[in-house]
Amino acid sequence: MSTKRTDALRVAVLVSGRGSNLQAIIDAIEAGMVQAKIVAVISNKKEALALERARRHGLSALFVDPKPYAGRPDSREAYDHELLEVLLQHNVELVLLAGYMKIVTNILVDAFSNRMMNIHPSLLPSFPGLDVQKKAIEWGCKLAGCTVHFVTEGVDEGPIILQAAIPILDDDTPDTLADRILEQEHKIYPRAVQLFAEGRLRIEDRRVLIEAGRPEGESVISPS
Ligand code: GRF
Repeated sequence: MSTKRTDALRVAVLVSGRGSNLQAIIDAIEAGMVQAKIVAVISNKKEALALERARRHGLSALFVDPKPYAGRPDSREAYDHELLEVLLQHNVELVLLAGYMKIVTNILVDAFSNRMMNIHPSLLPSFPGLDVQKKAIEWGCKLAGCTVHFVTEGVDEGPIILQAAIPILDDDTPDTLADRILEQEHKIYPRAVQLFAEGRLRIEDRRVLIEAGRPEGESVISPS
């Protein structure tokens, strides 16, 4: 039986760069559209604009330095162990990758199985990886878009939660296309977080089914 939670979902956002998706999620939370609380914004890049955005909103902005682990054969796993500790200390329930430019290892994937999301600027499974707007144009695609998915071990391979599609215009460049895709990213990422917060995402194999919302005011019986 699902129960409606009364406290806000505890979210951590992992970032590396400009943080416009982080900003969209912060704005959606502040506007009351998303019932979540960002308990930590964590970056592997000290100078990430995303950290500055977090600070501006009074959020905990943490730089976790990957350098001490560089050169070790298990450098990525060791780094993720440190991240995991931080996430556990903050009692994080959902991890959001938002322009996080580091491949996460099983250390995090297993600990946050079905509780870690990523946003990717293509209509997966087309164009995983980098430079995807350029690839979509060069391939001659007529549609592009973005995908929010759960994170699994394979990069950009996890179950798809939400997608948004837009047309590719004849005069699009990778930059103009990226800008229009980004507008969609800023809509679907907060929406996916809210669906998770409402407990409405059900995973069946590779499919994520979105359960109907409860009508406003309907009472919910808690299990005793
Ligand atoms: C976005 O295009 C996102 O889809 C991709 O990285 C970019 C991050 O942008 N994973 P921002 O840092 O959220 O502005």
